[in-house]
Amino acid sequence: MENKSEIILGIETSCDETAVSIVKGGTEVLSNVVASQIESHKRFGGVVPEIASRHHVEEMTVILEEALRKAEVTMDDIDAIAVTEGPGLVGALLIGVNTAKALAFAHQKPLIGTHHIAGHIYANQLVSELKYPLLSLVVSGGHTELVYMESEGEFTLIGETRDDAAGEAYDKVARTLKLPYPGGPHIDRLAQEGTESVPLPRAWLEKGSYDFSFSGLKSAVINTVHNAKQRNEEIKPEDLAASFQAAVVDVLVTKTKRAAEEYDVKQVLLAGGVAANKGLRTALKEAFKDSEIELIIPPLHYCTDNAAMIAAAGTISYRKGKRSSLHLNANPGLELGI
Ligand code: KG4
Ligand code: ZN
Repeated sequence: MENKSEIILGIETSCDETAVSIVKGGTEVLSNVVASQIESHKRFGGVVPEIASRHHVEEMTVILEEALRKAEVTMDDIDAIAVTEGPGLVGALLIGVNTAKALAFAHQKPLIGTHHIAGHIYANQLVSELKYPLLSLVVSGGHTELVYMESEGEFTLIGETRDDAAGEAYDKVARTLKLPYPGGPHIDRLAQEGTESVPLPRAWLEKGSYDFSFSGLKSAVINTVHNAKQRNEEIKPEDLAASFQAAVVDVLVTKTKRAAEEYDVKQVLLAGGVAANKGLRTALKEAFKDSEIELIIPPLHYCTDNAAMIAAAGTISYRKGKRSSLHLNANPGLELGI
């Protein structure tokens, strides 16, 4: 008999957020504590793996205690511990994995290794009931993927980036415009103030392909800035941001809509850090406003890295009977699955 009120403790340390969350029944978030390290990485213009690991070590016990306190539970109430096993920075992942193993061993609780992207996708379950088949557009700092799901826990990759991830392109373009790290939110803000006036390419790739490519677009932005400088011309950063964002959003939305129709899905989910992008959220809503397909867009705090999403995905694994051993290791190349 399925226990619909299992309490899962989730741990996420794959990149620069130390996060612990406690989720009941796969949907009810009892606590969701996230400590961001962005301030420490900003001056380096990106995440420094060694610094990330050190911060995870320093923060982990504090965040864990805070998550238990806020949820008003003790370790005795926890049914299982879900932890991000991969993909991510190996040193960063290891802090979460070792914390989870220590807790599982000390408190004799089941351990569940969880895929970071499965977490991003299942963040949607925290706000809506999921109906299969569905399509998820995953856009983060490391991933840009279209994932088809025939049923719960079943992932089929139908398209992915061949070079840069969408978030990576945002961050690199932001760096060219001398904006602070992470650049995505800054470009997004500037884009709202500018007009789409700089012609930039869109990589549609071969007919019918659901793959993406953003490196050509990124290079085009860098070249445009460079050429303008040499000619002593001024391009408004707002206009460049608006033009870049329009090119990214155009390809993401067009391919998502086409795939959703071809695969005849009931829902389209948006997932990952770039899901916080205002331009993308607005364009997706517009694209699906007259469609039978239901569009689900999580609130911002479930788009960027958090542990509630890991607990949500971990709940699915728990119900399917998945248990990891105490030999669980961090796996930066982990394949998408439950
Ligand atoms: O999912 P996430 O928090 O971490 C990874 O798993 O990669 O995604 C981080 C990425 C960064 O590249 C960041 O610039 C981007 O998400 N991002 C945005 C926005 N907010 C975060 N990109 C565009 N517009 C935003 N509003
Ligand atoms: Zn992420």
